[in-house]
Amino acid sequence: MATGPTHEPDCRCRICGSSVREFFDFGMQPVANGFVSEEQLGQESFFRLSVGVCTNCTMVQLTQEVPRSTLFHADYPYRSSGSAIMREHFESFAHSLLHEELSGPDPLVVEIGSNDGIMLKKVSDAGVRHVGVDPSAAAAKVAAAKGVNVRVEFFEESSAAAIRDEYGPADVIFSANTFSHIADIGSVLNGVDILLAGDGTFVFEDRYLGDIVAKNYFDQIYDEHFYLFSVASVRTMAARHGFELVDATRLPVHGGSVRYVLARAGSRPTHPRVELFLRDEDGNGITAMETLTRFGENIDRIRHDLVTLLRDLRARGKHVVGYGATSKSTTVLNYCGIGTELIPRICDSTPEKQGTFTPGVHIPVTPPETFHDPFPDYALLFAWNHAEEIFEKETEFVRNGGEWILYVPRVHIHRPGSLPVVA
Ligand code: SAH
Ligand code: TMP
Ligand code: ZN
Repeated sequence: MATGPTHEPDCRCRICGSSVREFFDFGMQPVANGFVSEEQLGQESFFRLSVGVCTNCTMVQLTQEVPRSTLFHADYPYRSSGSAIMREHFESFAHSLLHEELSGPDPLVVEIGSNDGIMLKKVSDAGVRHVGVDPSAAAAKVAAAKGVNVRVEFFEESSAAAIRDEYGPADVIFSANTFSHIADIGSVLNGVDILLAGDGTFVFEDRYLGDIVAKNYFDQIYDEHFYLFSVASVRTMAARHGFELVDATRLPVHGGSVRYVLARAGSRPTHPRVELFLRDEDGNGITAMETLTRFGENIDRIRHDLVTLLRDLRARGKHVVGYGATSKSTTVLNYCGIGTELIPRICDSTPEKQGTFTPGVHIPVTPPETFHDPFPDYALLFAWNHAEEIFEKETEFVRNGGEWILYVPRVHIHRPGSLPVVA
């Protein structure tokens, strides 16, 4: 339900300390990636998921933090390399790094949140010095098996200092879909300050608030996504720590992301793109309360339409399965109150998730091989950010009369052959 600032009236911005104005409350939610085994059913902990905007620096952020050790631990199940498109995306980034920022003598790149080595593998293959940092031991093990050098720990001041002592300054520090996950973001920027070479860059990419708001991607809001970045809020945050935002480029991945480049203040020229971006954000009022309130109203409408559609299909005897046991799906399922009565199973290609139950509503996660068995009339696509890749894989489904349901930017049935629905 869309709310005013009711639950965390004294919530303070984690960047600048000013007051945060809540604009949407999803209620109590389980940990988004907390997939549970049969024995663990019912033992989950819940926390309040609500989101607000800083009245001063405009950073959009959650009003409650889930401890990092609850989110990221040895058995964290997400594996980046499950998507071919993301593999290509990071390979191409590694390729450009190797030919540009890392083309000097004996360069060093450090990645924060290296997961299963999706980006660093190519760097390692090229024989370039690198360090991955990630507390998720099982994911790090996969990276190590690919020849990637990983430290299983959180990136913060102390680990940054230890890396600097051992390897010297880093030419590039990179982070994808991780920087925004760290509530104590100051500890990361302090660590970057310790570790980065004088003329080095801190490059990070993350889902973009502008796309989330414009396309109603409300399921990007979950415990791990503590901050939803805009170019303006990132620029202000960087300046508070002695860094300058020198570039920002749009990326098509995850429904719309931005790659930001920070450098030490005064060390590099700022690309004119940054100013254009800021003007665009200002013109669209992406952090204006009016825009965020409308976003909240759209979320409520999507919940209503989705539940109505699923109930209607069930009443007509139709069989609907879920596709992609994403962390995003935890927000959708728990906020909408959708359980096995409407979605009896969700297919997912991640071995670590298969055989478990989704957090909170306990829908069984099964391998994609079970998708057609029994043959569903409809599939609800939770992994909408991988729509193209999945549609291509599952052409048989549509050929045999199956239909895809999407809930963003609004609830609709995807017509094959029509333009991509998302991104
Ligand atoms: N970069 C990958 C992984 C994103 S998932 C990609 O874009 O697909 C986020 C990862 O960040 C997880 O593997 C998690 O364990 C890691 N992580 C979370 N907090 C971290 C921290 N403080 N330092 C380093 N890694 C962290
Ligand atoms: P993500 O949206 O956080 O990247 O998660 C995508 C999820 O979807 C992940 O659990 C893996 C799953 N998936 C499939 O089941 N099949 C696929 O083809 C792809 C690309 C992802
Ligand atoms: Zn602030």
